[in-house]
Amino acid sequence: PAIKEPLATYTHPDTGVPIDFYQLEVKDFEKQFYPELKKAKVKGYDGTFPGPTFRVEKGRETVVRLVNRASNTSNLHLHGSYSRSPWDGWADDVVKSGEYKDHYYPNSVNGRTIWYHDHSNHFDAVNVYSGLFGMYQIIDSKLDEKIGIPSGPKYDIPLILSSHYFTADGDLTDESKEKSSIYGDTWLANGQIQPFLQVEPRKYRFHVLNGAVSRTLNFTIEDANQAISFSVIGSDSGIMASPASTKSLVATMAERWEIVVDFAPYAGKSLTMRATNMWSDMEFADSDKIMQFRVGGAPGPASRYVDQKSALPERFAGVDAQFPVDRISATRDFKMVSHMDLMWGINSYHMDDPMKRVLMRPPLGTIEKLIFRRMSSGTGSTSYWTHSIHLHLVDMKIVSRRKEDPTKLDGRDYLESYEKNAVKDIILLGSNEVVEVLAKYQPYPGVYMWHCHNAVHEDNGMMAVMNVTRLKD
Ligand code: C2O
Ligand code: CU
Repeated sequence: PAIKEPLATYTHPDTGVPIDFYQLEVKDFEKQFYPELKKAKVKGYDGTFPGPTFRVEKGRETVVRLVNRASNTSNLHLHGSYSRSPWDGWADDVVKSGEYKDHYYPNSVNGRTIWYHDHSNHFDAVNVYSGLFGMYQIIDSKLDEKIGIPSGPKYDIPLILSSHYFTADGDLTDESKEKSSIYGDTWLANGQIQPFLQVEPRKYRFHVLNGAVSRTLNFTIEDANQAISFSVIGSDSGIMASPASTKSLVATMAERWEIVVDFAPYAGKSLTMRATNMWSDMEFADSDKIMQFRVGGAPGPASRYVDQKSALPERFAGVDAQFPVDRISATRDFKMVSHMDLMWGINSYHMDDPMKRVLMRPPLGTIEKLIFRRMSSGTGSTSYWTHSIHLHLVDMKIVSRRKEDPTKLDGRDYLESYEKNAVKDIILLGSNEVVEVLAKYQPYPGVYMWHCHNAVHEDNGMMAVMNVTRLKD
């Protein structure tokens, strides 16, 4: 995707700090996905699919004006960095066609891969699916330099993955056999079907986002059908205290992972990034290839901060664990409820019930343990649905995952190696799984949404509210 440039820089009248001003335009347009077929009708920011990538240095303040030039309403949520609630993309706070809204972002979190997308109540799935999503990187170049990971646009690359259905003549369609999800049978990498990236035989850092509406991805990078090892160095909320080496990586809806892939041993070869789908998702054997890395013969000049010979350290100095367990002030239990043919909810409450949608009032600054379970009525497909749980505002850490019913085959009773040190805003709750997390409510009080990030589930009521408050619950 293109890099988003500010239109102007202003000085804040009170604080004197510079603020970069950006404008994002929501548009209906057409995009060619298959060269030999017709163009597809899509939506996108600035007429691109996915939207342009923001690269913002940590602490640099921004104002983003969302201008809606499309035919339907839209709104804007910056996912993964705290915003004051009026600028957080509240699902009913929509920007009508022909109107605009300004959003102030402090960008004062640690460096992390976040993203922006539409958040319209009941239309989120179809809007995001149609192209209203893009990456927003908060860059901590001092930390990147200190810990020696690839940085700068050339060796530090966004990889926005999303899955879609196409009609026989090349149009995009959300028509799905399941009402509960828009899975998609074709992965796009940065909006393209099975593209390739020419790389040098050296280390690269990729910011992987699963921007799919409903599909959890488990991917490998393969050399002649053999999965190679790569390092997971960061997650939703930034660089992890210790990197983890793996040969496959699970990324659920809205989840981000930063990985370092060393192409040095593969000079002259082509590697394939391949999807193995998970659980309730159907597999699509013909479209499991996501993209190709074509490794050139000789490395270019090393980027500034990376010693190409050295392996990544076992621990990244200066990146701390962040969640002191002696300070847990409450434990809460939540069920992600799906009933065949009925409105769904969280503990049976949902966004459209203003009297009951506030599920918790956690005191500002506290750390709580949250336990997430699934609940579904009836048999059939709802009994194995998975959920991708997202709390706005807060960072979380996964404490444990176990099987709800230990006698069943599905579900995991462990954390993946790369989950152990990850700080997150997305929690994957698989079929037959119970997951415990710690959540830290800071830095702002206010009313914020939380929901399943299968956007079809979200649109069907699997979304509620928390009121982070200065008062005791
Ligand atoms: Cu990615 Cu409520 O958002
Ligand atoms: Cu869900």
